[in-house]
Amino acid sequence: MITCENLVKIYKIDDEIEVMALQGLDLQVEKGEVMGIIGNSGSGKSTLLNMLGGLDRPTAGKLIVDGKDLLRLSDKELVKYKLETVGFVWQNNARNLIPYLTAVENVELPMLLKGSYKRARAIELLKMVDLGHRINSKLDKLSGGEQQRVAIAISLANNPSLLLADEPTGSVDTKTADIILDLFRKLNKELGITIVIVTHDTQLTQKMDRVVSIRDGKTSSEFLRRTIHASNTNIDLDKEEAEEDTHVELAVVDRTGRIQLPREYLDSIGFTQEDNKLEVKFEDGKIIILNPEDTQG
Ligand SMILES: Nc1ncnc2c1ncn2[C@@H]1O[C@H](COP(=O)(O)OP(=O)(O)O)[C@@H](O)[C@H]1O
Ligand SMILES: [Mg+2]
Repeated sequence: MITCENLVKIYKIDDEIEVMALQGLDLQVEKGEVMGIIGNSGSGKSTLLNMLGGLDRPTAGKLIVDGKDLLRLSDKELVKYKLETVGFVWQNNARNLIPYLTAVENVELPMLLKGSYKRARAIELLKMVDLGHRINSKLDKLSGGEQQRVAIAISLANNPSLLLADEPTGSVDTKTADIILDLFRKLNKELGITIVIVTHDTQLTQKMDRVVSIRDGKTSSEFLRRTIHASNTNIDLDKEEAEEDTHVELAVVDRTGRIQLPREYLDSIGFTQEDNKLEVKFEDGKIIILNPEDTQG
């Protein structure tokens, strides 16, 4: 669904200052996946989502989404792409919703833009997000979680093949966050839609099969969920528990062989940025990375 290679995004602040928000990012997402993106504030998560959503253009690299080359689309094709291929959900509903309209009127709006207004479809979408009982409620009468579900219904209005969510549970409590994640998973199952969710909520990422971590505008590692099968273990873990501790972290290696080491690992071997070197050796089929000071004498 998504192939992203060596993606670069530079924001020009003025004639002298440039910010390199994406520094050669690699990412591969399969059709039908629900995956998470994590990373510190300022690491480039929203920039990546904006590139994927066609809201802004990459500076360099390769970005193919659903067979479309986002560096080569004309302005007109990009508008069509934004309307038809992707759906967006943000942390802040206010960006999508009109408070004095009802739920169903809010869902109809993006359909009007595309010129294919259908009330039946809007109702169907609200039912899909479990808001069938709230169709005629004014937006400002709905709870934060319900408003977020209206936003999700809207994002699905034009039948996108990719759903992008930037911190979708950032302003709701943990119980509501859980309901929203379950809703994403249900939509993924029923519609087959690919979903990319930026979050820093570890409670949510634990439930995802794959989570990619971004550092300084590059993919640094991936967490893959390994399911422990009951037959392989003597301990009688219940399913929830078995799933919680089974994420393995894999460092992403770019085309030139570079990896990013987790900061905690570097700290724990006493690495300091002043002597910015580590000893790397190959021994017994293993690559070993050492603080050079530990090997002297
Ligand atoms: N429109 C913009 N203009 C200038 N700099 C930007 C813009 N958007 C993001 N940046 C900068 O790019 C970097 C990555 O930002 P962002 O993608 O928002 O990170 P995240 O979502 O991970 O917090 C930051 O240094 C940020 O200040
Ligand atoms: Mg962000």
